[in-house]
Amino acid sequence: MNTMDSEINMSKEAPLEEPGRQYYYIEKAKQYILEKEQEIGRKLTFCVTTFGCQMNARDSEKLRGILLAVGYEETIEDVADFVIYNTCTVRENANTRVYGRLGQLKPRKKQNPHMMIGLCGCMMQEPEVIDKLKKSYSFIDIIFGTHNIYKFAELLCNRFETGKMTVDIWKDTNKIVEDLPNERKYPFKSGVNIMFGCNNFCSYCIVPYVRGRERSRNPEDIIREIERLVADGVSEVMLLGQNVNSYGKNLETPMSFAKLLVEIEKIEGLKRIRFMTSHPKDLSDELIEVMGKSKKICKHLHLPVQSGSSRILEKMNRRYTKESYLTLVEKIRKAVPDISLTTDIIVGFPGETEEDFLETLDIVRKVRYDSAFTFIYSKRTGTPAATMEDQIPADIVKDRFDRLLTEVQTIAAEVCAVHKDQDVEVLVESVSDHDPSMVTGRMSNNLLVHFGGSEELIGSYVNVHLTECKGFYYIGEFQ
Ligand code: 5AD
Ligand code: SF4
Repeated sequence: MNTMDSEINMSKEAPLEEPGRQYYYIEKAKQYILEKEQEIGRKLTFCVTTFGCQMNARDSEKLRGILLAVGYEETIEDVADFVIYNTCTVRENANTRVYGRLGQLKPRKKQNPHMMIGLCGCMMQEPEVIDKLKKSYSFIDIIFGTHNIYKFAELLCNRFETGKMTVDIWKDTNKIVEDLPNERKYPFKSGVNIMFGCNNFCSYCIVPYVRGRERSRNPEDIIREIERLVADGVSEVMLLGQNVNSYGKNLETPMSFAKLLVEIEKIEGLKRIRFMTSHPKDLSDELIEVMGKSKKICKHLHLPVQSGSSRILEKMNRRYTKESYLTLVEKIRKAVPDISLTTDIIVGFPGETEEDFLETLDIVRKVRYDSAFTFIYSKRTGTPAATMEDQIPADIVKDRFDRLLTEVQTIAAEVCAVHKDQDVEVLVESVSDHDPSMVTGRMSNNLLVHFGGSEELIGSYVNVHLTECKGFYYIGEFQ
């Protein structure tokens, strides 16, 4: 992984340019770790625990890449010498969970003098969180945010050298550092960041505040990364961005997301392309056309609707209406008839009336989603919605949430069932956790199927007959 070893001269000062500077610190951290290991007579271990979205999951792979490069061995959280929480803050309960788990780590750290705790990710971008951690959680070793994850090795060295809590949070950045190590969770599929940040400022959402402004990676860097991944055994990529449909708008030579997809499709050996998340307001006709013609783009689109009420959508600053969303769905289904559609829905947004909620139920019935993530509105300090009048009482929200969930699940089960008796190609991902004599494969439309087969199939594409629908997944037969 470390392609730059030969250029590193440790007797010199750290270079200023990236990624060279980080490879310098990786070497330095390696020496610290080695010394520690000699002192205690065993290897040091780590565990990165990820909260939240796929963006965080990909960031965690970067952290794991650096930790393995500096000499740590990976293990489970319960016994790890170095525990890192890559946090989420999209809803308040994400924060609560982290504080709870930190409380449990404290006594472990007292028992193990070599133990370190690191925190990073979205929650660290909130100043109140940092204040609280400094005041009441002084046993934490390293804290950094979403913008400087690439500096992890440097921060690690800083912690070793000072012996003190190292805190480094940036408000924003326009920097994108390429070519650092990363360690994938799956050998055959990988997330690929195509852009960072979000400019949409949906009124309930904290993401633009903690992930900063939209920045797109250069297409050449993205293509090069995917080509390397393919050479390393990857056949499916998930292109990641908070709003992939606005990819490329701020590049020196602007480029649309649709054009990027056309370029990625040309990569030989790549079999499947997925992407998320799409904002309905930016989903272009050009993209729909490309999806319709593509042989590699999977038949799945995650298109968060958030609410079915145009009045609420306006208050959410989503910049589409119920009607325009439905028109968009119609267009997509016309171009890609067998596409699976999934969504995110929030209930209990400030001012949501029963009537508004019925509009949400109505759009769910009209679109008939393959699945939907449903969320109870969570007030995020600093967002415009947090100070809106008419926050909805918890019991009303809970009742709506339950009604919505029933509707979503009933429809999803019906939609899932239509594939019965079809023969489909799946990418085998793992041994099934239901039954060790079975493996689990993912269809192009993102549905899972469990079927008799052994571990050797993992990473390959096979044809499966879908024999039995279990509501949200299938049991099948290897063809
Ligand atoms: N409360 C509840 N759900 C939220 N989401 C984003 N912000 C909030 C919030 N404050 C949901 C949206 C988004 C998904 C990732 O999380 O539905 O699409
Ligand atoms: Fe949040 Fe809206 Fe940006 Fe998605 S598009 S990250 S919901 S502000």
